[in-house]
Amino acid sequence: MPSIPELFEDMSWGPAPEAPGRANAWLDSHARKFGHFIGGRFRAPAPEEWFDSTNPASGERLASIAQGSAADVDAAVRAARGAQPAWFALGGHARARHLYSLARHVQKQSRLFAVLESLDNGKPIRESRDIDIPLVARHFYHHAGWAQLMEHEFPGAVPVGVVGQIIPWNFPLLMLAWKIAPALAMGNTVVLKPAEFTSLTALLFGEICREAGLPDGVVNILTGDGRTGAALVAHAGVDKIAFTGSTEVGRAIRVATAGSGKKLSLELGGKSPFVVFDDADLDSVVEGVVDAIWFNQGQVCCAGSRILAQESIAEKLVTRLKARMETLRVGDSLDKAVDIGAIVAPVQLERIESLVAKGREEGATLWQPSWSCPTDGLFYPPSLFTDVHPAATIAQVEIFGPVVVLMTFRTPDEAVELANNTRYGLAASIWSENINLALDIAPRVKAGTVWINCTNVFDAASGFGGYRESGFGREGGKEGLWEYVKTGGRADGPTGSDDDIAPDTTAERLTARRPVSPSARPVVEVDRTPKLYIGGKQARPDSGYSMTILDARGGEAGLVGIGNRKDIRNAVEAAQKSQPGWAQATAHLRAQVLYYLGENLSARAGEFAERIRSLAGAPPEMAAAEVEAAVSRVFTWAAWADKWEGAVHLTPFRNVTLAMKEPIGAMAVVCPETPALLGFLGAVLPAVAVGNTVIAIPSERWPLLATDCYQLFDTSDVPGGVINIVTGKRDELAGVLAAHDDVDGMWYWGSGDGSAAVEKLSAGNMKRSWVNYGKDRDWHAAAAESEEFLREATQVKNIWIPYGA
Ligand code: NAI
Repeated sequence: MPSIPELFEDMSWGPAPEAPGRANAWLDSHARKFGHFIGGRFRAPAPEEWFDSTNPASGERLASIAQGSAADVDAAVRAARGAQPAWFALGGHARARHLYSLARHVQKQSRLFAVLESLDNGKPIRESRDIDIPLVARHFYHHAGWAQLMEHEFPGAVPVGVVGQIIPWNFPLLMLAWKIAPALAMGNTVVLKPAEFTSLTALLFGEICREAGLPDGVVNILTGDGRTGAALVAHAGVDKIAFTGSTEVGRAIRVATAGSGKKLSLELGGKSPFVVFDDADLDSVVEGVVDAIWFNQGQVCCAGSRILAQESIAEKLVTRLKARMETLRVGDSLDKAVDIGAIVAPVQLERIESLVAKGREEGATLWQPSWSCPTDGLFYPPSLFTDVHPAATIAQVEIFGPVVVLMTFRTPDEAVELANNTRYGLAASIWSENINLALDIAPRVKAGTVWINCTNVFDAASGFGGYRESGFGREGGKEGLWEYVKTGGRADGPTGSDDDIAPDTTAERLTARRPVSPSARPVVEVDRTPKLYIGGKQARPDSGYSMTILDARGGEAGLVGIGNRKDIRNAVEAAQKSQPGWAQATAHLRAQVLYYLGENLSARAGEFAERIRSLAGAPPEMAAAEVEAAVSRVFTWAAWADKWEGAVHLTPFRNVTLAMKEPIGAMAVVCPETPALLGFLGAVLPAVAVGNTVIAIPSERWPLLATDCYQLFDTSDVPGGVINIVTGKRDELAGVLAAHDDVDGMWYWGSGDGSAAVEKLSAGNMKRSWVNYGKDRDWHAAAAESEEFLREATQVKNIWIPYGA
């Protein structure tokens, strides 16, 4: 036994175990066997199928858990459905009190939750006690406030209904809180499926809901593996799916829900860059790396798993990192003195081991501390890879373990390029003492959260979620609540058939008597043949085919090109090329361009009205009204261009959290068939106003009203490539766009089948889509200029900037 002076000298640590007694007693009180929590009570699964939940640090069995069947899913959805109307009808204040009560109850049992979480997941008790559980309580408190304010802050919004929520094993209770708190605040009821490795704290939470007096059926916890998740996704009684987990499963869910009308938010994987500039405070950086990749054993979707270090300081950083890694401790999750706990399950440990082996095979250099890692239990040491090629597997694939790769860069531009060299876009950290540099880099990194001189900080007031293949939708902050409400403008409900498109707009009504269908025929060089409009120039269709557009009398009004895959490719390229410049142009400039467009359209109003009249057979006053509405619509989106502001979130640390609304990128917009002019401008311009560039597919029947706009764009200083128009078969072109990996987002107004196809095909690169499920909207109505267009055209990036002298 060393003496106290000796202990001060070598600073060695003994074990400091947390007692598991209360958690074990709670498990015993349930005879270590848990059914589903449905309608306010635990129920055995039907048929009875059980699996074990084990402690990954010791291998000890903790409890038997129910495997949910389709019948169980049905029972849980029914319970949620039954409870939902009354839950919403309680009103914001009563719901706020319930959420507040849940927060209080979580706090009262905080140690029990923390110990149970560490036993079940393997994470260090220090983390579950000091990070996970306090954040859970904070989430319920914060959202109690949003319940209270719902009517005021979301006027006219109604709950989505019953929400199916599927969560992973890395932050079991925290992910539960992120999902349940906003859903309940907005008046929804939920069926939540925890991950099969970590169901226990969710089941305890179910019990707490009952204790806290939450009405039965508002929260239902359904346990089981991926089969249960898939059955929940497929259930017709679910109105929205909120998922956090792997990109593969997220993609399968996107495909499974396509065309169903279910709302969907996906929080998926990441390979987040951790960018260190040469003027960064390296000691802080080292502690930052510890938090970035060794927090929660690196099993963190936003883990800073790619260190990008400026070349001049890379060597110094590696030396300091290795010294720090020597002092890290790996061990039993209930030991208060460990930094790194156990890996959640054998399958995850195998995945880490095989990816590390791959890294070595591909030539990278692996470094691990000299001490040996515990061998009984699922442990893996902190690991650092250097000499990593940016295209190496370990630089691209999410390892989800305590393994970080380090690469170098020379200039800020190169840092941005490397940072964005990933299919993901969840988070990023930027380390520099130069605030100008950091704030220049932050908007250029494609990620939903950017931490400056800090990492892995979260709060209920700040939205969290991805760009690109990291998914879409936000959790936390006001931006996260839109996922859980319906507003007037959004089409919802199950897919209708193609026949569902109501002919309720002027031109459609007027031409319904005399249907005209475009026919394909070889190109004839006629003066009246507008070409495609790509990159600010007119371009001949690659196919060499055009289609005849008939006027209201059945006469030939002109020919338009039939665009194909190659034309789409060119249009996407043009849109991608011009997008950064358009996004970086000032909002004032974008507004000016759009006002100018409105002015020019107004100057040619007579000509456009005549075109509508002759093509669609509209009476002159109706044609004039459409043009007038279009001019006003252009002004509306011009007005919004410099007013669609972000926010500063009040996160409870010494920092400002800037919620910036950023454009999605190059977007495909498949415009409504009718009204051809108002629908075209009304659909394209909101996206353009906020900095997106667009590949527009105009009305198939009256494309000439869109192609007539070329000159307007040219004369209004719309930069080339900002609006591209490809005419032709709408649904065919929509399919190509939906499947295109360089299209970042897609809007579609058309048939139910077309909507389903767009949602399904968009799963390729997980692009965000907004479709109408075959339900027409009134483009003359106020709802056609609602803020929903702007929300669908932007994504929120939260930039955390700490301060303190
Ligand atoms: P996973 O995506 O399979 O599991 C997440 C949740 O989805 C679990 O509740 C699971 O039961 C459920 N699920 C599985 N298949 C489903 C289906 N077809 N339909 C509906 N729900 C389904 O993730 P897994 O297998 O646990 O981990 C595999 C890899 O995924 C990890 O190594 C890591 O790279 C990544 N991952 C990323 C997470 C993140 O937060 N970004 C979280 C967990 C895993």
